[in-house]
Amino acid sequence: MSLAKENVENLVISARNARENAYAPYSGFRVGAAVMCNSGKVYTGCNVENASYGLSMCAERVAIYKAVSDGEKHIEAIAIVTDTDEPASPCGACLQIIAEFSQGSDPEIITSNLNLEYETKRLSDYLPKPFYLRK
Ligand code: THU
Repeated sequence: MSLAKENVENLVISARNARENAYAPYSGFRVGAAVMCNSGKVYTGCNVENASYGLSMCAERVAIYKAVSDGEKHIEAIAIVTDTDEPASPCGACLQIIAEFSQGSDPEIITSNLNLEYETKRLSDYLPKPFYLRK
């Protein structure tokens, strides 16, 4: 499944708005994310840091966990916005979390700067072989 251009841009704008709430007093690096679930609903997140640095949480995971706590299990697409010239890739931990809620599909990952200059890839472009628990 591929999102239409209008939906991609709306998702990026949602992520850009969520970035306004980033709590990043330690790194100064503010991130916003927005996930589109297969229900059609959008959930947003921002990074939330802590004085105990290792407790900080990425914007992508905040958005995904909000979706999951609302009963969502399937991510179709995620947009990530940073104030960088080149769009920033999601970290490895977030890629593994996206894989967990991909339901065998290959979610779109849209990375953008503040000017809506974005790049669209797939989870498999970043993480071709995620870990899945097979018994
Ligand atoms: N960060 C994210 O929110 N998403 C990522 O994919 C990578 C990093 C945040 C974590 C921390 O608050 C700040 O960016 C600097 O690492």
